[in-house]
Amino acid sequence: MPNTFHITTFGCQMNAADSDWLSRSLVARGFVPVAADKATIHILNTCSVRDKPEQKVYSEIGRIRSATGNSPDILVCVGGCVAQQVGEKLFKRFSQVRLVFGTDGIASAPDAIARLAEAKRLRISLIDFADRFEERDAALDGETVPPAAFVNIMQGCDNFCAYCIVPYVRGRQKSRDADAVLAECAGLLERGAKEITLLGQNVNAYGLDLGVTVGNGRSAFGDLLYRVAALPNLSRLRFVTPHPKDMGPDMARAFADLPMLAPRLHLPLQSGSDEILRRMGRKYDTARFLELVTELKAARPEMHFSTDIIVGFPGETEEQFQETLSFMERVGFAGSFSFAYSDRPGTRASLLGDKLDKKTKFDRLARLQAWQYAFASDLLARMQGETVRVLLEGEAAAKDPVPGAVYWQGREERGHSVIVRMMREAPPGGWLGETVPVRVTGASMHGLKGDLA
Ligand code: 5AD
Ligand code: SF4
Repeated sequence: MPNTFHITTFGCQMNAADSDWLSRSLVARGFVPVAADKATIHILNTCSVRDKPEQKVYSEIGRIRSATGNSPDILVCVGGCVAQQVGEKLFKRFSQVRLVFGTDGIASAPDAIARLAEAKRLRISLIDFADRFEERDAALDGETVPPAAFVNIMQGCDNFCAYCIVPYVRGRQKSRDADAVLAECAGLLERGAKEITLLGQNVNAYGLDLGVTVGNGRSAFGDLLYRVAALPNLSRLRFVTPHPKDMGPDMARAFADLPMLAPRLHLPLQSGSDEILRRMGRKYDTARFLELVTELKAARPEMHFSTDIIVGFPGETEEQFQETLSFMERVGFAGSFSFAYSDRPGTRASLLGDKLDKKTKFDRLARLQAWQYAFASDLLARMQGETVRVLLEGEAAAKDPVPGAVYWQGREERGHSVIVRMMREAPPGGWLGETVPVRVTGASMHGLKGDLA
């Protein structure tokens, strides 16, 4: 009987991309992906950036333990940031856990899983940090790839923002070799990908750890963007996440030069108060942030921005929170991920004295989210009547389907999700991966809907 596996992923897009790779790599070794209740191998790819992540992971492992009667035939593998943090202590607590791997250890995880599936008493720990980006096998053979694919360009972060655990659990910044990035992108595009998102914790710092210099006022990341953009069959390029402090003038130039660079940027602000930004160690102020937005909008007037915000950083006053709200309004963010500050072990902010109480933090969070909801709803509603270009990613279920219509889901260039109603026959190769013009007929909190134009 083949070994069956199920991956549960928590956290960011980097984890999602890691899980996709791990899944492909296990399939290439003959493992079969199945629903959680059918799996003999359970893989949890964890996140520790906020809230009570360890508890979430413990309760998930506990759930598997009781659902399977703690059977020794079940293998539980814990990867990602919580595995890095808690490490081998997980072995003591849960007998079914026989593999822990950090983000640097993932390259060796498929081999380890293959060994553990045979040797029932073995335990393997892969939580050492690497000094360099470890290349993984491509695991693309025979696989079809989604129209919108993700490619990792770096691992870890050197910034040590006061609140953030990432540098401690994902290690220092390690950039991936540019030729390896290009080869993976080319491989994906040959297999049907149309859009590529380059992923990293701080993409503008790409290459700095390798000492890459490019000249002509171009950063190593800028250079990589131009090289990926030149690959055949690419219709759209995105990247996430840039850090405002490392965004140079070459970024606005890239948006002006490269039509496939989609006019949507996720640019984490964190706070609209200069004093809080200073205490967070972000190394930019609101004036600089606004300057960046202005430069980028000059290059691409249709650009939409989204951001990350932390409310209730230690010592944040009501006035400073109000500064965040008014700055968000000034930029006009199309969307934001917002979080109440939470202490992460080992970070500088966790040692600060003037912590805010839960009620104040969640009250501010609710007000910020209410503003964002109203602003985004209005922005999307104003897109009615526009014709947008949508990359079709999969069939969708419609709420009130019209007889004879089929519905597809995709994203338009500014990153908004669109449900498209098709009243027409599919082209010979099917709709998947096609980029089609869509007339926007409505909007909801989750995105747009429209008709094939
Ligand atoms: N508390 C709350 N939010 C946090 N983030 C990172 N660390 C913390 C923390 N300690 C948020 C930041 C970051 C996003 C990925 O998570 O906004 O950009
Ligand atoms: Fe964390 Fe700051 Fe690095 Fe982002 S840039 S991962 S917030 S330390």
